[in-house]
Amino acid sequence: MTVAAERAEAAVTRDDLAARLAAHPRIRLAHLPTPLDPCPRLADAIGVRALYIKRDDLTGLAFGGNKTRHLEFTFAEILQSGADTVVAGAYTQSNWCRQITAAACKHGLAVSLVLIHGVKGPRAQGNLLLDRLMGADVTVVDIDSMENIQPLLDKKARALEAAGRRPFVIAPFALDQQVLAALGYVGTAIELDAQFEDVGIDPAQVFICGANNTPAGLITGLRALGREARVTAISPIRWDEARELDIARVATATARALDLNLAIQPGDFVADEDHVGEDYGVLSAEARAAIKLVAETEGIFLDPVYTGKAMAGLIDHVKRGTVGADDTVVFVHTGGMPALFAYAEDLIDDG
Ligand SMILES: Cc1ncc(COP(=O)(O)O)c(C=O)c1O
Repeated sequence: MTVAAERAEAAVTRDDLAARLAAHPRIRLAHLPTPLDPCPRLADAIGVRALYIKRDDLTGLAFGGNKTRHLEFTFAEILQSGADTVVAGAYTQSNWCRQITAAACKHGLAVSLVLIHGVKGPRAQGNLLLDRLMGADVTVVDIDSMENIQPLLDKKARALEAAGRRPFVIAPFALDQQVLAALGYVGTAIELDAQFEDVGIDPAQVFICGANNTPAGLITGLRALGREARVTAISPIRWDEARELDIARVATATARALDLNLAIQPGDFVADEDHVGEDYGVLSAEARAAIKLVAETEGIFLDPVYTGKAMAGLIDHVKRGTVGADDTVVFVHTGGMPALFAYAEDLIDDG
């Protein structure tokens, strides 16, 4: 039997997958389902037959984005733990930390953020402005990589404990927490499966911006449902470990959490690390052009750190022929637009 035939035989129905997902504790934060918008002018401009954008920038929760879906599962665990303070960390323009802060505010929890200075630093703009407006306690640190942040989060938690608080640390690289985030994107796959049926399409290609949990959940969900679309995760960042290994590990653990008979191998999807540009958080010329193109053709905004680079990646795949002119393509918009305002001077010449 071919791999595709084996997969088709092992596929579960949408209702079955939804029931497996519903077995996991979850709170409601997102406005779902998000729309699947046809984008004919953009399709024409980049040279594909049909292009749809899955509007996960419209999930809601402090300007929306992919993390709203993740946090529905993460916060179920946080609330269950009895914590009174959430500790998290990433870069100063982190969308994740902005949305964590919003979810915490909604549930009356305090937030302590450890934010890496990064390209944009401590200027109160974009996401960091929103963190501050929501009352997060922010410590800006100057370390070279997100991979080294865990000890700083643990130190912050110890200080909070010493002050009588009950902190919950969201550990960015703990597999059990990564799986909770990925479960959110199994939900996206379920929505897409229904939307493909409604619209009458079976896309050959799905593109998404992702470093690990977001594409891992999407791939798990689409494969579990027997969808054979080629999924390409365009990474916004380079870490020591190849992204395909990380994504496959999180996807396989997510499948296990859903009791699915599904192992995701690196060859089951494409993890593209060629569109990071100079560095994480540095706007590339290609991303800037992609942001302008999508805005001018569809009135939709991408962001400078994640989705702009992912769209630049899609455009490059069309040019190189890995996406065919006859392919129907779905681009999952994972949000991030608040950062546009922190990057004004990079985005337009008189910014
Ligand atoms: C807008 C946006 N898109 C994509 C991603 C990538 O998500 P993940 O790290 O879960 O793959 C992020 C993560 O911060 C993000 O903020």
